[in-house]
Amino acid sequence: MSDPLDELFSPRQLKRDADTLAEWGRDWTRSYAVAPSAVVFVESIDDVVKLVQAANQHDFKLVPSGGRTGLSGGAVAGHGEVVVSFDRMNRILDFDPADRLVTCQAGVVTQTLQEFAGEQGLSYPVDFASSGSSQIGGNIATNAGGIKVIRYGLTRDWVAGLTVVTGNGEVLRCNHGLVKNATGYDLRHLFIGSEGTLGFVVEAQIRLAPAPQPQQVMVLGVPEFRDILEVLRTFQGALTLSAFEFFSEQALQKVLAHRNLRRPLPQPVPFYTLLEFDASALEAASEAFEAVVEAGWVVDGVLSQSEAQAAALWQLREGISESIAGYTPYKNDLSVRISQMPDFIETVDALVSDSYPDFEVCWYGHIGDGNLHLNILRPESLSVDEFYQRCHSISPKLFAEVSNRQGSISAEHGVGLLKRDFLGFSRSPEELEIMRGLKAMLDPGQILNPGKLLPLKS
Ligand code: MLT
Ligand code: ZN
Repeated sequence: MSDPLDELFSPRQLKRDADTLAEWGRDWTRSYAVAPSAVVFVESIDDVVKLVQAANQHDFKLVPSGGRTGLSGGAVAGHGEVVVSFDRMNRILDFDPADRLVTCQAGVVTQTLQEFAGEQGLSYPVDFASSGSSQIGGNIATNAGGIKVIRYGLTRDWVAGLTVVTGNGEVLRCNHGLVKNATGYDLRHLFIGSEGTLGFVVEAQIRLAPAPQPQQVMVLGVPEFRDILEVLRTFQGALTLSAFEFFSEQALQKVLAHRNLRRPLPQPVPFYTLLEFDASALEAASEAFEAVVEAGWVVDGVLSQSEAQAAALWQLREGISESIAGYTPYKNDLSVRISQMPDFIETVDALVSDSYPDFEVCWYGHIGDGNLHLNILRPESLSVDEFYQRCHSISPKLFAEVSNRQGSISAEHGVGLLKRDFLGFSRSPEELEIMRGLKAMLDPGQILNPGKLLPLKS
């Protein structure tokens, strides 16, 4: 019997060679087996509908694939699934200056959207290190955050309309770019962050923001972890921040070595914060700097003198993830409310030193919005499996601290495979039941991104 995919797609769209399967069958995670059966490069909404219908009819599973920059295994196909790549649905379809709305296909790369916005004298302010390859559909599916959340919010905040194909093969067009729409359940928000388990995002209407003022960047050396929050409080009291990031000296050493960069300050300091703000707020920033030095929270600092220097300082933060990728790090992406942060940091810091005495630990993240990235680096002596098992066995202790503070075990990376079995630390049994009910309604054949996000029932 011939394969239904061969009936539906020509060899131009349907690939089964080993290289394509290996490349498109995974995201940035490296700890999961990758074994898709085929990759389909969809070119239209109709293609997606056809695939979903065929999957229901012939009982095969689909895994959506965007820029493959995910860090939780949400786009890994490990069990013979068919990968649905949106690489060729990469067109900007429409722009309306009066509405400041851009309509784009799911495969548009984030940076392309940012550049397009710039050409219109506007901006798309959601930004992260992977903007050069991540795609808008994947960003929506994971409600991606990044480095400007403190000022501009998450991907969710910029999605004014959404077209999705559900697991039933229905095409839903949600909210149509409206600002105000009080007509009941806003289904758009159900799909944002659903990691392709309820429907595949195929098009989106994205709101654009005014062009930003010129920005200035500061990097400060902070000897004590907990004082980072005092620094945040002082600067936030004095000016509007566009970013407030932090990283540890360990993390800095990795990025300096990997990219061959220079230290931001002459002497190493245990922690650093990176602040970005409108250049017009420089005076207020300088006063805040004096205050944090006087209080003893900050020992030194550097201010960008040009756009090139600002970009160089940003590299110190944005380059970390790539610089530690070779260690197959065990990634934690935690958040608690800012008010809970001082106590949380102290507890987690102690727990980490206790639990991982023989592992190297890199801290960094978007501390200004309550999001900490805690990366445990794999020693060469341990296999990836052994290492992940050891880290997994510690996770419940760490996640219990998150749960005690009603925090999130995945602030921005998504649940995927990595956090699936721990979801109960952030979501109640009642919530999980409702989530399963939604899955059953929108994907009754269980063909969309199986095994991701929702914990398996024991
Ligand atoms: C980052 O903040 O650099 C990204 O979320 C990636 C990472 O955590 O490694
Ligand atoms: Zn991040």
